[in-house]
Amino acid sequence: MEEILDTYKTTKLEDVKIWFKAASIHDFPADGGACVKYKNKQIAVFNFARIGKWYACQNVCPHKMEMVLSRGMIGDDKGIPKVACPLHKKTFSLEDGENLNGDMDAIATYPVKIEEENVYIGFSD
Ligand code: FES
Repeated sequence: MEEILDTYKTTKLEDVKIWFKAASIHDFPADGGACVKYKNKQIAVFNFARIGKWYACQNVCPHKMEMVLSRGMIGDDKGIPKVACPLHKKTFSLEDGENLNGDMDAIATYPVKIEEENVYIGFSD
């Protein structure tokens, strides 16, 4: 179990070494998410159209290790964009991964950039 979580490390913009071309922006539902595979990682990518931003985080929910976060509802918690796990509604900040309604460890988040209608996710390895 723990080794699954070890696969995912928050990547800061300044640490990005590889911009992985994930898919076209049209492959992501507005105000929803989709899962993308990069090496051995499943990454949840969100098109937060309502605020004109994109986010990426680990797809695995640390609560029960289910690969489900890309299917979670996105929303806002006092100005913080968040995703709610579809299973038991634990919520995580899409900015820094913090668990907003509990005391679980933060999930890993990754930078996203859009170029020529393609979505790129930033990784350090
Ligand atoms: S598996 Fe995500 S909240 Fe339980």
